[in-house]
Amino acid sequence: MFQQLSLFAEKNDDHLTNDLTKCFYQSIAQSGFNYEEFDIGDITFKGGQNESVHRWYRLTPSYSPNLVRFFINRFKITKNDFVLDPFSGRGTTIIECQKHGIKSLGIEINPLLQQVGSKSLLWDINHINLVNNYLEEILNLITKYQEYSLEDIIKTFNTRIPIIHNVFRWWKIDVLKNLIICREVMNQEKYDAIHEYTWLSINKACLDCANIHRNHPTITFDDHHQREIDVYAEISNNLKNIIDDLLSLNQQQISFSQFNSIIVGNSTNILEQKIDHPIDFIITSPPYPNRYSYVHQTRPQLHFLELLEDVSQATEIDLQAIGGTWGRATSVLQKNLIIVPDEIKPYLSYYHELKNQNILMCNYATKYFIDMWKHIKCLKQMISNHFQGVYVVGNSRLSNVEIFTEVILGHLFQHEGFEVEKIISFRKRGGKKRLYETGVCIKNIRN
Ligand SMILES: C[S@@+](CC[C@H](N)C(=O)[O-])C[C@H]1O[C@@H](n2cnc3c(N)ncnc32)[C@H](O)[C@@H]1O
Repeated sequence: MFQQLSLFAEKNDDHLTNDLTKCFYQSIAQSGFNYEEFDIGDITFKGGQNESVHRWYRLTPSYSPNLVRFFINRFKITKNDFVLDPFSGRGTTIIECQKHGIKSLGIEINPLLQQVGSKSLLWDINHINLVNNYLEEILNLITKYQEYSLEDIIKTFNTRIPIIHNVFRWWKIDVLKNLIICREVMNQEKYDAIHEYTWLSINKACLDCANIHRNHPTITFDDHHQREIDVYAEISNNLKNIIDDLLSLNQQQISFSQFNSIIVGNSTNILEQKIDHPIDFIITSPPYPNRYSYVHQTRPQLHFLELLEDVSQATEIDLQAIGGTWGRATSVLQKNLIIVPDEIKPYLSYYHELKNQNILMCNYATKYFIDMWKHIKCLKQMISNHFQGVYVVGNSRLSNVEIFTEVILGHLFQHEGFEVEKIISFRKRGGKKRLYETGVCIKNIRN
C-alpha cells in the first residue's frame, strides 16, 4: 500500500543541495541508527480535515490519521492491545484507535486540547434531535437581542466577558455577543445530552470567527479584514458535520471501546498514577523543539470556554509543558545556562555551538531534552514485554543551529534501555525545502 523510497539512493542526487538536506544526511550517517524513508502522502493535519471526527477541530501541528493507521498496521496492533498517546493533542491517535476498536488512553497537559479530544470520543446519536432545538433557540435569541449592547447580554445571562488580553481585538463586539449567546444556551441543563457536540461546534467557531489570519500555522491578528462573520452559520455548519459523521459511524456499527479516554496530565511525571496496566504500544508526537506554544495558540478558546481561572494559569501550564516557550517560561529560561546532567551531556549535539550563540535558545533546547528524558524514565516502568512505540518529531533550527531531535531522542531511549529499532523518515509535502518528519521507532529490549 505504501510506496517505499530508497533514502540512500537519493543521497547522491545532484538536485538536493540545500543545507538542511546536507545536515539531515550527515546526522543520519553519524547517528549509527537504522533509517528508512516512506512516502505515505500527506502526514500533516490536512490529512484529517476530510475525515470523520478528525475534522471537528483543526490543530495545525497534529498529524494525519493516515500516519496512525500506518503504525497500527506496521506494529500489527490488535483489539487485545493497549495503546498510549502521552502527548495526545487533539486526540488523533485515540480517535483512530477507537475507530479500530482498540483500547487506548491519551494524556494531554493543555485542558482545551484534552477537552477537544475527549469530547471527540463520544459517538452517541440518541439525542441528536435536540440539536435542532438548540439551533432554533440560538437563532431566535441572536435575532431578539440584535439591538442589545454587549453589557446587556452580559447582564441578561449573568456572565462575564472572556478574560483574554485585548478581547475586542480578537472578536468584533457583535460577534462576541452572538458567541456568548450560543455558549450560554449551550450551558442550559436541557441541552446537557448534546453538550459535547455543541461545545465542539462553539470551540471551532470561536476561532473561525476571530479576527485572525486564516490558514496560518500560528495565530496572527488580521485587524483590517472585511469578512462577514456569521456566528450562527458557523455553528450550524459545524453541528451538521458532527451529526453527519456520527450517523455514518453508527451505520458502520463500530464497537466503540468504552476504554478509550483522554485525561489531563503531565507525561513527564509518574505515569503509574494515571495508567493501571502495562503499555503495549505508543503512537505519539511530542512537541518539537521549535518554540511553538500550544497554550499560546489555544488561548482564545481556553478563555472563551472558561477553562482557566485567571490569565496567569495559561503561562503556568506553558511552563510545565514540554517545549513551553511563552511568558514566564521565557523569563525562567533567560537566566543562567542550564547545567546538563553528565549522563545525557554526550547526546546534546547542539549544546556547545548553541550556548555560544544564544543562551536562551540553548536553555530552551536543553529543558526540552531534559523533560523528554524524564518522560522516557517514567515510561520504562510501565511497558509490557512486547512493547513497541513511535515518537514522531520534526527537525528544527534554533539560532541557525540544527537540532537533530530524532537522533538525540534515539540516544535518550537507548540510554534508558530501549532498543531503537529504526528511524523512519516521512517525506513532507508541499514545501520547497526538504523538511522531514521522523518516527523514532522503539521497542522493549526483551521483545
Ligand atoms: C505535537 S502535539 C500532539 C499532536 C497530536 N499527535 C495530534 O495529532 O493532535 C504535542 C502535544 O503535547 C502536549 N504536551 C506538551 N507537554 C506535555 C506534557 N508534559 N504532558 C502531556 N502533554 C504535553 C502539547 O500540549 C501538545 O498538545
